[in-house]
Amino acid sequence: MEEGTLVLGIDIGGTGIKGALVDVEKGTFATERFRLDTPQPSTPDAVAETLKKVVDYFEWKGPVGIGFPAIIRHDVAHSAANIHKDWKGVHLSEFFANHVHLPLTVINDADAAGLAAMEFGTGNGHDGVVVFLTIGTGIGSALFLNGKLLPNSEFGHLLFKGKIAEKYISKKARKEKYSEEEWGKYWNLYLEYLERIISPDLIILGGGGSKKFEEIEPYLSLETKVVASQLLNSAGIIGAALYAHQTLGPKEGK
Ligand code: BGC
Repeated sequence: MEEGTLVLGIDIGGTGIKGALVDVEKGTFATERFRLDTPQPSTPDAVAETLKKVVDYFEWKGPVGIGFPAIIRHDVAHSAANIHKDWKGVHLSEFFANHVHLPLTVINDADAAGLAAMEFGTGNGHDGVVVFLTIGTGIGSALFLNGKLLPNSEFGHLLFKGKIAEKYISKKARKEKYSEEEWGKYWNLYLEYLERIISPDLIILGGGGSKKFEEIEPYLSLETKVVASQLLNSAGIIGAALYAHQTLGPKEGK
């Protein structure tokens, strides 16, 4: 079987750092996924060391695409909601490249997952305004107009019932605080709020917790169509790899 163009995709999250080699033409994994816990505290040096272990596990010498859970403007981290505060101000691709010595790119983790969903998944072919949300330790978002990404939308941090929304609707909130019914109702309120602000044509729920879509769906009463992402947990890795491929251009892998 002929091998497509491979890029190592890595998704850095609040609880896990996951990687896989991705066939960026097909949008599929070319290897199994490998996961290590995000070190706690998740300081820059500790995370970079774990990232290096993931790269070494694959014995990879080609391009790397990293999804990272922060606002990233001109490659600099501008927030740190579910990771150590020391990340703020770090020049991300330079910092990671100094540890792994490979060509790499860094993109917000939800923007990465959204790119994968629009290219290879549920969002493919959808014009108009599409909102993609990841349900994980935090809530990430990616906003698209006619398939084009508007980065760093951060809808998980909208002020909602006196707090940032992710405090009510993340997977963490469901696990630690709320019953299925409470959580489902918060989701409906939150999505209605989002609907009022941006009038999306489609909302896609993805990320690790998107399997929880079945829990949320019975409580939804908004007008906008809401669907679960087909790519589920793999979108963050695939999208990070795709972004590296699009940004760095095709390069030889191992
Ligand atoms: C962060 C986002 C990130 C999301 C998912 C939020 O707390 O602010 O940048 O995309 O979590 O990891």
